[in-house]
Amino acid sequence: MSGRHGIEVVELVREFPKGPRAVDGIDLHVAPGEIYGFLGPNGAGKSTTVLVLTTLLPLTSGSARVAGYDVATQGRYVRAEIGAALQEAALDPLLSAREHMRLQTTLHGLSRSDRKVRGEELLERVGLVEAADRRVGGYSGGMKRRLDLALALVHRPSILFLDEPTTGLDPQSRTALWDEVARLTREDGVTVFLTTQYLEEADALADRVGIIDRGRIVAEGTPQALKDEIGRPSVEIVPAQDGDHEALAAVLSRFGESVPALSQSVAVRLRGGESELAEVVRALDGAGISVSQLRLHAPTLDDVFLEKTGRSLEGAGSEHGGDESAG
Ligand SMILES: Nc1ncnc2c1ncn2[C@@H]1O[C@H](COP(=O)(O)OP(=O)(O)O)[C@@H](O)[C@H]1O
Ligand SMILES: [Mg+2]
Repeated sequence: MSGRHGIEVVELVREFPKGPRAVDGIDLHVAPGEIYGFLGPNGAGKSTTVLVLTTLLPLTSGSARVAGYDVATQGRYVRAEIGAALQEAALDPLLSAREHMRLQTTLHGLSRSDRKVRGEELLERVGLVEAADRRVGGYSGGMKRRLDLALALVHRPSILFLDEPTTGLDPQSRTALWDEVARLTREDGVTVFLTTQYLEEADALADRVGIIDRGRIVAEGTPQALKDEIGRPSVEIVPAQDGDHEALAAVLSRFGESVPALSQSVAVRLRGGESELAEVVRALDGAGISVSQLRLHAPTLDDVFLEKTGRSLEGAGSEHGGDESAG
């Protein structure tokens, strides 16, 4: 496991016959040992990118090197260096975790003695030793994801691809998986390319984040730098009287641009930052508007997405009619 090379992608395009340009000219540079979070709504092109980078789908144009090898011409070498846990986990409900592990270690050509040692080590690592002889069909979502992760690590890949590894998991299973992924980079120097629809996930886990929308990267950087770019917090206010909604919006519009909010409230991004809050309260007082709730929101990656695309990340998907056809 060298970890000398990361991922280098230049003007990558993947077009589906009769379909959209799922990946529409993206550039990516993922450094060795880095956790790169690929954040975007449903249908943005995340899985297609992963499938191209893992050599499971040919690219239309552009180039991509993974672990130093060209995905188009050196697929065999790429595959030897990478591990992947894809969205459609290929687990057999009738087999146990230990049986899956035996198959996977055999597939990768480990010797008989290595097979046993490596398999047990990985089951232990993801906390599945006790459940190892139970059929996977009875596993929880979190257990399946952890098994999938363990299977992807059998041949000690230097680069790991995880396609929405925590979608549908409860918060506890989600953070358990985050811990495991963080440990992989910290202790083993594994490079991780991870896709997610969850901004908290990108925020908590990724060293750098690329935000993808409709096949294009709309923003990239460390989570902090991306949020700093937005800078100013927004204030969200619920009027005590429903009838005051319009008057409230009028007063707030003097303090900044409006941002999406729940239907009963009004929100604006404070042009002058947090220090303007007192002024806002005075203005509302002056206009005779009483306030039921007032919340100040620090910028999130959702604000970044909103700024770049004009839409909110939550509910921004299914622009192309959902991801039913996604692989
Ligand atoms: N095999 C396919 N044939 C045609 N269109 C596809 C196929 N796979 C994905 N798409 C389309 O490409 C776009 C990107 O899909 P995908 O990469 O799965 O997005 P994400 O993983 O971000 O949800 C979507 O519009 C999707 O419907
Ligand atoms: Mg996907």
